[in-house]
Amino acid sequence: MFNADLEKVSVIGTGNVGSTCAFLLAVNSLANIMLFDKFENIAEAKALDIGQSSVATDSSSIVSVGKSMVDLKDSKVVVITAGISRKPGMSRQDLIKTNGAIAKELAADIKENAPQAIVIVVSNPLDLLTWIVLKETGFERRKVFGMAGVVDNSRFKFFTAKKAGKSARKIKSHVLGMHSDEMVIPTEHIFVDDEAASVALSESEIKELKESTKNGGAQIVKLLGNGSAYYMPGTGAYLMCKSIIEDSRAVFDTCVNLDGEYGLKDVCLGVPVKIGDKGIEEIIELDLSPDSDNKLKENAKLFSEQLKLL
Ligand code: 2OP
Repeated sequence: MFNADLEKVSVIGTGNVGSTCAFLLAVNSLANIMLFDKFENIAEAKALDIGQSSVATDSSSIVSVGKSMVDLKDSKVVVITAGISRKPGMSRQDLIKTNGAIAKELAADIKENAPQAIVIVVSNPLDLLTWIVLKETGFERRKVFGMAGVVDNSRFKFFTAKKAGKSARKIKSHVLGMHSDEMVIPTEHIFVDDEAASVALSESEIKELKESTKNGGAQIVKLLGNGSAYYMPGTGAYLMCKSIIEDSRAVFDTCVNLDGEYGLKDVCLGVPVKIGDKGIEEIIELDLSPDSDNKLKENAKLFSEQLKLL
């Protein structure tokens, strides 16, 4: 039942986010998965647990453990989830020192051992780490991007569906910019059952929904007390891997290196992107209102200021 011909996805970091992503890939027979962790016993434990779940679900995926970074070879996709997560009261930016150094080292490993791979960055601070991995690998920008908008947009749809009393399937929205409290949720691109947000919701409701979304990660950090969200981030990374492997070119709000799109350059920010076999297949330029456009430009400024502090 195992299928050695499936594409290989390497997941670096087998904490809760990495293992959720690996679990979904495995039970859906989407890829053969290699797990990497600085604590090899943890990677081993997760590989056994997930591998046994694959058997139970009659999956064809093989789940194994990378013994050294050389084992990254032949990966179609590498997912980076390694690093520390937020404690209550911390911002994602507070993680830069530790996670920035880890990302830098991993980028060098990926460059050396899996130069063909597409890299999905998941660790925080997401936008800065995407930049670091892009620069350190020297890969084309289509091959390095960050997963966060999927999380933020699902959160927005979750809260909006509840408020509007509709299925989340009926909500259309985008979350752009940084994966931080400054994220941009353009009102002109929110639709509830095909009705513009300005008609379907009151101004104060829209404001409240945006606030809940911005606070969505911190809300979970606070409740957990030790750790941050993982089912949703793991699912987001899984969905992006799926779109690459199946070349389905699904649209995700994705952190990418902008090169003139939205009038921005030399920044990594979230915008809608089609993801397929080659990684970034197309960057979609939404028509933004002057207010949303200003907010995105402010995000770009903020990103550049934070970059200077690295
Ligand atoms: C979140 O928003 C962990 O950044 C992640 O929950």
